[in-house]
Amino acid sequence: MLSYRHGFHAGNFADVFKHFILVYLLNHLKTKKPFTFIDPFAGAGTYPFEDKFMQKNKEYLTGILKVLNNKITDLYIKDYLDLIHLANNNKKISLYPGAAQFALLTLDKKDTIYLNELHSNEYLNLKKNFEGNSNVKIDNTDAYSNLTKMIASSKSQKLVLIDPSYELKNEYDKVLKLIKHTYSQFKDVCYMIWYPDLKQDKTQKFVDDFLNLEIENTNHIHIELKNTNLRMQGTGFFIINLLKQDKQNIDNALNELVQLFK
Ligand SMILES: C[S@@+](CC[C@H](N)C(=O)[O-])C[C@H]1O[C@@H](n2cnc3c(N)ncnc32)[C@H](O)[C@@H]1O
Repeated sequence: MLSYRHGFHAGNFADVFKHFILVYLLNHLKTKKPFTFIDPFAGAGTYPFEDKFMQKNKEYLTGILKVLNNKITDLYIKDYLDLIHLANNNKKISLYPGAAQFALLTLDKKDTIYLNELHSNEYLNLKKNFEGNSNVKIDNTDAYSNLTKMIASSKSQKLVLIDPSYELKNEYDKVLKLIKHTYSQFKDVCYMIWYPDLKQDKTQKFVDDFLNLEIENTNHIHIELKNTNLRMQGTGFFIINLLKQDKQNIDNALNELVQLFK
């Protein structure tokens, strides 16, 4: 039984790093048409601050609001922040967009956005938030069993975000198996895999095991912070099939973001 709700954490520092990279990739990959973004672990896709889950921990206060209240110089970070303002109709910030909403605001009408969420209530929220859009497809399945079907459903350039809740005991192993299996079938897809750094042996083991998969063109980004006031003391990503220039641009921007959270 799934109990995780992304609203407890939406807009925290890990979301900032994750969605900054996501927006960068969407903007750079969508130039190859047709283009599809797949979020198999989609959550509700948008998170109003007044939502009861958001109210509980208010992690956005030390996450995105910290960034919005500072002067930013990097142009790619500015692109990401512009979308947050746009999601709020350029008024006072009262919601944090999820990956689905960032994709909707970044992609063109002819691009496809494929969302999937297993939790039944969260799936209903996702549907309510996005079903009116003709280029959005929404499913309620187990991502671990259905990702290959989602990828095979169209012939296009694709970005796949692997962003599970890591709430199951064996979830790190499940992610490793999922990537190994999916990559063996679809080698030209760009995959972005997120993980939390809980300062536990299992984080290091996951990183080592992932790198031991020896998937070509795997880029590893690991961000350690101190005193975050959260259980999470950092975060990380594996990005498969990233161009060298994109890696450089992302690294430069991440350096600026990390300074804000130190
Ligand atoms: C970290 S949240 C997703 C956040 C979202 N990707 C974003 O960036 O806005 C992870 C979501 O995965 C869902 N989930 C967990 N296990 C799943 C599974 N096996 N299949 C599909 N969804 C799952 C959870 O219910 C949760 O809503």
